[in-house]
Amino acid sequence: VDKLGDLRTPALLLDLESMNSNLQMMASHFCSKAVKLRPHFKNHQVPALAARQVQAGAIGITCARLEHAEALVEQGIKGIFIANEIAGENMIRHFADLSRQAPVMIAVDNAKIVCDMARIAGDRANELNVVVDVDVGLKRCGVAPGHDALSLTRTIVEKGLCFHGLMGYAGSVRLPPGPEKDRAARANLKPLLDTKDLIEGAGIAVEIVTCGGTGDYSITSTISGVTEIQAGSYLLMDAGYAPFAPEFLPALSVLSTVVSKTPGRRIVLDAGLKAHGFKDDMPVVKGNSGLRVSALHAEHAIVDILSPSVSVDVGDKIELWVAYLDPTIKLHERMYGTRNGLVEVVLKIER
Ligand SMILES: Cc1ncc(COP(=O)(O)O)c(C=O)c1O
Repeated sequence: VDKLGDLRTPALLLDLESMNSNLQMMASHFCSKAVKLRPHFKNHQVPALAARQVQAGAIGITCARLEHAEALVEQGIKGIFIANEIAGENMIRHFADLSRQAPVMIAVDNAKIVCDMARIAGDRANELNVVVDVDVGLKRCGVAPGHDALSLTRTIVEKGLCFHGLMGYAGSVRLPPGPEKDRAARANLKPLLDTKDLIEGAGIAVEIVTCGGTGDYSITSTISGVTEIQAGSYLLMDAGYAPFAPEFLPALSVLSTVVSKTPGRRIVLDAGLKAHGFKDDMPVVKGNSGLRVSALHAEHAIVDILSPSVSVDVGDKIELWVAYLDPTIKLHERMYGTRNGLVEVVLKIER
C-alpha cells in the first residue's frame, strides 16, 4: 500500500517531515552543550526511530521497561538506561542476563532490591549498573532526596554494584515558555542537585545526573550539575503537550474513516478508544476547525460538526492528532511514515 487512501483504518500515521524537524531541532539544541540527550523510548517505541536519535547525537536511549531494553540491545543500540524500577527474582535475573550482553543502567530506589540484585548476580555484581532514582516531587517512584538517597547509595557501593549517579524526573512541566516555567524547572532540580553534593561530600563520585523532559529540557539542560536529559515526547509530540513546547510539531495522527453521519450534527469515525487509548484529552481533527471530537467510545470517535459550512461525508478519511502518545502507540503494531500523502516507510512498534 502506498497511498493513504488505500490503508485500512484506523492506522497510525507518522509525518516524516515534522518528525525530522523535531529531531533536528533537539539535536541542534544539544550539539554544542556539555549536557547530553538520552531520549526516552516509551514515547514512540520504534527501534528505527531510536537509531535515528542516536545518529543525530543522542548518547543512548532511555526506556521504561526491561523488555524494551532487551529489544534495543538486540538492535545494537548502545547506552541503554532503564529509567524505572524492577522487582522480583525473575525480573532481576533477566536484568542480570542482559547486563552480561551489554552495559545497561537501571534505576533503583530500594535497598531490598539492591541486596537482591547483589545476591542474584553473585560474584558478577559489579556488572550491574545502577542509578539512584530520587523523588523530586512527582510522588511516583524514587527514594527521598538527601540522607535516604545517600544511604541507598552506600548500600549499592557496599554490595559491589556499579553506582553511576542520580535520576530525578519531576513529570512534564506543562507550562507555556516563560519565567514561571523557568522557576518550576529549577525548583524541581534543587533537591536532586543538593543530593549530588551530599553524596560527593561523602566521597562517592556521581558521574551522571539525569532529569528533564520535553517541557523543560531548554532550562534543565543549562543547569550546572545536570549531565543528561531524558526527554522523549519531543520527537512525535501530542496535542496535549504541544502548547507547552511549541518549537516541536505534532507528527503522529490516527487515520480514520467516517462511518456514519447525522447531517448538521455529527459524524462518527472508526477510531475510538481502541485506537487512541486515552480519553482525558480528546484527539484533535487535523486541518479542520469545524470538526471537534466530543467523545471516544471503544470503537468509535464522535465528532461534532461545529459549522454548517463543513463538507464531510461517509467514506471520507479524517486524520486525528493524537492526544497522548504513550497509550496510543501501545495499541498499534506499526506506524506508516508518510510524506506528501504517500506512505514512504512502515515502522515496527516494539510493544
Ligand atoms: C521517567 C521519565 N523520563 C522522561 C520522560 C519523557 O518526558 P517527556 O514526555 O516530557 O519528554 C518520561 C515521560 O514521558 C518519564 O516518565
